[in-house]
Amino acid sequence: MSNVPRSALPPGVLSMHVLPADHHDRDWDAIIVPREVKERLLAQALLVLQHGRKLSMLSGLPHGLIVLAGPPGTGKTTMARGLAQVAALALARQGATQLLEINPHAFPSDMLGESQRNVTRLLTETVPEIAARRPFTVVLIDEVESFAVRRSSASFEANPVDVHRATDAVLLGIDEIAKNLPSVLFVTTTNFIDAVDEAFLSRADLVMRFALPDREAVGHILAHALGELAVQWPALLPLASDTARISELAALCEGWDGRRIRKLVLAALAQRLEVARDPSRLTWDDVLSAARKKGGVEWAGGAAPTSREMFPDVPRELMHDHDHGHALHDHGPGSQPHTHTHQQDAADPPKLVS
Ligand SMILES: Nc1ncnc2c1ncn2[C@@H]1O[C@H](COP(=O)(O)OP(=O)(O)OP(=O)(O)O)[C@@H](O)[C@H]1O
Ligand SMILES: [Mg+2]
Repeated sequence: MSNVPRSALPPGVLSMHVLPADHHDRDWDAIIVPREVKERLLAQALLVLQHGRKLSMLSGLPHGLIVLAGPPGTGKTTMARGLAQVAALALARQGATQLLEINPHAFPSDMLGESQRNVTRLLTETVPEIAARRPFTVVLIDEVESFAVRRSSASFEANPVDVHRATDAVLLGIDEIAKNLPSVLFVTTTNFIDAVDEAFLSRADLVMRFALPDREAVGHILAHALGELAVQWPALLPLASDTARISELAALCEGWDGRRIRKLVLAALAQRLEVARDPSRLTWDDVLSAARKKGGVEWAGGAAPTSREMFPDVPRELMHDHDHGHALHDHGPGSQPHTHTHQQDAADPPKLVS
């Protein structure tokens, strides 16, 4: 497994992983969707990766392009990563799979001519060079609406000619790769499918729309999230396996996306200081109360205690001196050097920090 240091990555590439790799199993398993969703995705990926060469002989050749569309936090990116790992597992005996994550912000649409050049370099140089190293390649592009900007949309401020050329370059690049590198699969995600170019969407072999989880799926996600907590803090095992209460909780979280549901578990741990400091003390009341407050906080009650009221007994030797590491130039021209004096240090001469 190679996680290439960022400095060694080609331009526009966020990360590169060779799959299958041990610690990549989690993503696929974490996303709770109907069985058919995972099966359809995997079948599509394997069809292209494994049989792309033969299929590229067809008049209606696949473009090796999957689009995952849907609201934020519904598991698209996680699913895409998981798909790469599971496809790589399926193909492992025929060779390794390179997963390449593209930085969608490497292609700004507001620099004249620059985005077109960047796209062209990515699709005609970077991807082909990397694809040549391994039998199978999966390219993940998040926020694809900024990569294949809908040309018919008038709602951008950037130079329309420039946007046009960049999207043209994407289409051209995808077509070339479909013909010449049939074992390359693009998995792309978007929150704004209406902002993705129509001709790009038309090239997709599969456009899968992600929805918010239904009540049953919410329950499964909660159970999964609590189960993960119980792995870290085994005292929480009874709580994590209480299916009756989990479905009661699920009712409070209807309409939430998967990300928010997972964050609820974190919010529950942060309801009380005592629990934050020792998560094995988490109770159902904490979880339910976090859900009722929708993960936030209710503004009621008296004044909060002061820091020293809360933590009166931190030993003096654990308190750090006033060496904060501020650089002098942080304070702007003409400002006085920044010094701190604490009450009990008041006798110390003020010290300049550098
Ligand atoms: N259906 C689901 N089942 C389980 N967990 C989910 C589900 N959907 C989302 N999550 C969790 O929510 C978090 C966010 O998921 P992810 O980043 O894949 O969403 P996304 O659809 O790509 O969001 P965005 O559109 O904002 O990029 C992850 O921790 C993921 O495990
Ligand atoms: Mg995402």
